[in-house]
Amino acid sequence: ARITLRQLLDHAAEHGYAVPAFNISNMEMGLAIMSAAREANAPVILAASRGARSYAGDKLLARLIDGLVETFPEVPVCMHLDHGNDLATCATAIQHGFTSVMMDGSLLADGKTPADYAYNMDITRRVTEMAHACGVSVEGELGVLGSLETGMGDQEDGHGATEKLSEEQLLTDPAEAEQFVKDTGVDALAVAMGTSHGAYKFTRQPDGDILAMSVIEEINRRLPDTHLVMHGSSSVPEDLQQIINSYGGDIRPTWGVPVEEIQRGIRSGVRKVNIDTDNRMAMTAGVRRVLSETPDEFDPRKYLKEGKALMQELCKARFEAFGTAGHA
Ligand code: G3H
Ligand code: 13P
Ligand code: NA
Ligand code: ZN
Repeated sequence: ARITLRQLLDHAAEHGYAVPAFNISNMEMGLAIMSAAREANAPVILAASRGARSYAGDKLLARLIDGLVETFPEVPVCMHLDHGNDLATCATAIQHGFTSVMMDGSLLADGKTPADYAYNMDITRRVTEMAHACGVSVEGELGVLGSLETGMGDQEDGHGATEKLSEEQLLTDPAEAEQFVKDTGVDALAVAMGTSHGAYKFTRQPDGDILAMSVIEEINRRLPDTHLVMHGSSSVPEDLQQIINSYGGDIRPTWGVPVEEIQRGIRSGVRKVNIDTDNRMAMTAGVRRVLSETPDEFDPRKYLKEGKALMQELCKARFEAFGTAGHA
């Protein structure tokens, strides 16, 4: 059944667990996520980015979601727009059956240029008015995602790899977060606390201080009714890097956010954990392995099935680690 982000995360907060938001852009990823949710008896957030919407097409994506919801009737599903960039993108997602939208007004509509508070507040407030009138939840974002280790801003924000950002720039200010929620009425808030998008987050095995837990705790204390969201939460598992690289891939040495750090975040109040990169790697690892080991194979079902299996295993492990399992 389809539910809103607010319904899902209210329950998670009450019971002290978090829900993974897995990105989806095709049928195989959808089947892997939903099969894992069924196995773990867990609710799930399916997240579609603007890139996913243009890859699959809105009509097909909407019907894929309908099909998944019907095929797995026991799984509570929140269908969520990931990183919406303007009012129209959020409105058309709602028209296609999304029960939650993210308005990422931390960036201008180009999805690259950091925006000021006034812009973010104004666009997010307008999206929230519109979405709430439709019974749809809203996630906002305040702050610049980036690694506290390297000082590099989020690669996907387009300002990475050039100038180093200060720790102050890379952490959401708790007082500003409190004001932002008052000004906008969002149900959930993505905060900057040391994570970044993509596979190349850290250049070494992160230690226990890689994420700013105190920032999460302080924001959670000020905003007990707003659900905190951790973007860039892939762990970039070494075993998947090894499978990919041993079958012709070329992933540079890299580290992600350890699952134990995410668990610490959940204890500090994180309720939605965004994961895309890990699933892309799982799918790629399975496909590469089948194609390398059986070079005469050319039936897409044979290699996609193996990619799906690795992805399903990863999703199931996250449901168990985040305490989502058993809460369907
Ligand atoms: O935060 C971004 C997600 O990983 C989706 O990435 O825009 O390449 O679909 P995408
Ligand atoms: P990863 O790149 O770490 O998987 O983060 C995904 C994400 O935050 C999607 O919004
Ligand atoms: Na941001
Ligand atoms: Zn994100």
